[in-house]
Amino acid sequence: MANIKITRTQNSRIGSVDWNNLGFGVYFSDHMFVAEYKNNRWNEGEILPYGPMLMEPGLCTLHYGQSIFEGLKAYRCVSGGINIFRPDMNAKRLNHSGSRVCIPAYDIKNNIEAIIELVKVDKDWVPQKKGQSLYIRPVVFGSSNFLGVHSSSDYLLIIMTSPVSSYYPEGLNPVKIMVASEYVRTVRGGLGSSKTAANYAASLLASAKAKELGFSQVLWLDAVTRSFVDEVGAMNIMFVIDDELVTPPLEQGTILAGVTRDTALVLAREWGMKVSERALGIDEVFAANEKGKLQEIFGTGTAAIISPVGLLSYKDKTIIINEQKIGPVAQKMYDTITGIQYGELEDKHGWNIHVEV
Ligand code: COI
Repeated sequence: MANIKITRTQNSRIGSVDWNNLGFGVYFSDHMFVAEYKNNRWNEGEILPYGPMLMEPGLCTLHYGQSIFEGLKAYRCVSGGINIFRPDMNAKRLNHSGSRVCIPAYDIKNNIEAIIELVKVDKDWVPQKKGQSLYIRPVVFGSSNFLGVHSSSDYLLIIMTSPVSSYYPEGLNPVKIMVASEYVRTVRGGLGSSKTAANYAASLLASAKAKELGFSQVLWLDAVTRSFVDEVGAMNIMFVIDDELVTPPLEQGTILAGVTRDTALVLAREWGMKVSERALGIDEVFAANEKGKLQEIFGTGTAAIISPVGLLSYKDKTIIINEQKIGPVAQKMYDTITGIQYGELEDKHGWNIHVEV
């Protein structure tokens, strides 16, 4: 896929961006990459002006939700150029998600090339300030029109980008999280490890109720025993208990294999921290707090990067973590990960793809 066809917009919208108030996913850059799957193969794909798409009411995805997506980011490198952080992991995860909902795989090399070309075309949309980045959102969905329940024969892959600042308005300030006791997000054998639109739809009601009560997000428990911690939905979750970094394991297939999760675990192990990927009961979290051993809780995710949790509420119990301040592990994690992303620290794992612009 060496030469991607590019049709440039005649009407750039970049002048309308308020770079001091980017928010998250509010602005869409001028271009998008579009590839079509028809007759059992993906076409070459092309870069087009970002804009509305024609669709029929019979679009199968509207009815049966055959849709997956990804999220990764491009950062302005302090020494010039742009760093795209670990796009290979996202490309692989897209195919993992697709395999669960019968969406055909997309070539990993082509995926990364499409992202690089799109970032080059919209290089001016990569924000200049630290704390800001260009969020890259690939989405794949069934594009055939029918009402029988079966998988689509045609698909669209669209990659769009959006200049963003922090995901939570709190930024790096600790968020308040409510542990879900009424609803569940996913079950073993379900969609939990796949980044499907359906997972996020399943989270909306509990999130809305939590927001009404003043919380930023919901922490999901396992759906069977309703006692083990899963993830937050928009991010994975990590605990520092008695100097050990503990996070739920991937094996059950109920949580997303987060790229930032993996990055944080690699770094923590390098720093010599004790790290455990293991089942963690919500009761154990509250008991550790009672004993004064719960030092930190923080979320990891592409959108949020590192998000400290300052307050956790479960049924009638509420605990304050680290006096509602960011803890040393979360701070070091944030500084190191963003340091690598913005090219301030050595990228010894080769996580960035550097794009000269
Ligand atoms: C991400 O971190 O990229 C996410 O997918 C979280 C959310 C915006 C859906």
